[in-house]
Amino acid sequence: MLNFTKKDVLKNKLVLVTGGTGYIGSHTTVELMNEGYDVVIIDNLSNSEKSVLDGIAGITGRKPYFEQFDICDREKLENFFKIYKRLDAIIHFAAYKAVGESVEKPLMYYQNNLTTLMNLLHGMVHFNIPNFVFSSSATVYGQPDKLPVTEEAPFKPADSPYGNTKQIAEEIIRDTVKVNPQIKAISLRYFNPIGAHPSALIGELPRGVPNNLVPFITQTAIGIRDELKVFGDDYDTPDGTAVRDYINVVDLAKAHVVSIKRMIEKRGKSNLEVFNLGTGKGSSVMEIVKAFEKASGVKLNYKIVGRRIGDVESVYSDTKYANDELGWKAEIGLEETLLSAWNWEKNVRAKKK
Ligand code: NAD
Ligand code: UFG
Repeated sequence: MLNFTKKDVLKNKLVLVTGGTGYIGSHTTVELMNEGYDVVIIDNLSNSEKSVLDGIAGITGRKPYFEQFDICDREKLENFFKIYKRLDAIIHFAAYKAVGESVEKPLMYYQNNLTTLMNLLHGMVHFNIPNFVFSSSATVYGQPDKLPVTEEAPFKPADSPYGNTKQIAEEIIRDTVKVNPQIKAISLRYFNPIGAHPSALIGELPRGVPNNLVPFITQTAIGIRDELKVFGDDYDTPDGTAVRDYINVVDLAKAHVVSIKRMIEKRGKSNLEVFNLGTGKGSSVMEIVKAFEKASGVKLNYKIVGRRIGDVESVYSDTKYANDELGWKAEIGLEETLLSAWNWEKNVRAKKK
């Protein structure tokens, strides 16, 4: 049974956010609602919790529509499209994202990440949904030959099945819009999203031991982990630790709203566009550790260990195309971002006590 009823009158543009109770999806839902969009979320809660909806409502003053099911279930999805007739756009976040797990369970990753995408694209063709935003990743570039990396840089052979699903997904979207020119799509290639909403009401909720740097840092600082392992200090970088482009998740979320507007207002240059979402600035692992210590006032326990298999040395974005053409720029600084991650961690632990 879906939650939308005949009594519901939609006054605003309606956007489907798949994976909307997840980390980036929840922040994007907030920014969409703040900009006056109506939002319906589909999420099967495989990597998120329903209570995220309360966090969203706490910030925006209203709850988005929420439908809990697996997007791999094509029959349920088609039923959804029949009920929510007038969708203006889809933003597709729903996917599995753990690089290491994807190496162990490749079929699970190909199945989920590609079936969800294809089911949604089928739906767009059959139910005349015009606009699509896809969560891609800087992982498609591997270790780029030139830094900063532009959208023109070629794909490198993927290091993991997860990375490969992003490359294949971009190709599936390209082939689909080519023969369905009524559909417009934007692929957003995220660099390293970090931080949380400044309210500390929503943020990243990793299950088990975090793989990513910033959740590992905040969990170490709060005492859940003994020490951070810094993977490698023998890279060819200024301090020997690996360099990434860390972008605030609220800045990232705002780029999705800008992308939706661009498509609705038909300002795109072609019906498939690709933008890098980063800050343009690379930071090393040790720079992140120091910036976190400064922002939080907490001394972090860490140890340098060997490199992590599959890690690239250095990657950061050329932001010119996104700045000039999309008209979007990352604005929030690193320390403010790390402080937001720390405030979120403290808030989550306080609630769990
Ligand atoms: P997340 O795991 O927090 O959110 C994804 C959400 O999708 C979860 O709530 C999960 O329950 C849901 N989901 C997964 N499979 C589903 C299915 N079959 N049906 C319905 N719901 C399903 O992840 P995130 O960090 O918010 O990432 C969002 C997107 O951005 C993903 O596509 C990810 O690959 C991409 N991305 C993330 C990062 C990052 O560092 N977080 C970097 C680059 C790209
Ligand atoms: N790192 C540590 N210790 C940790 C965790 C990470 O030193 O405990 C280091 C990593 O070696 C890397 C940096 O911190 O140098 C960032 O690592 P993350 O795991 O946070 O992020 P990645 O750059 O490896 O990967 C992220 C996303 C992927 C996405 C990729 C695209 O997790 O999904 O960005 O660039 F594909």
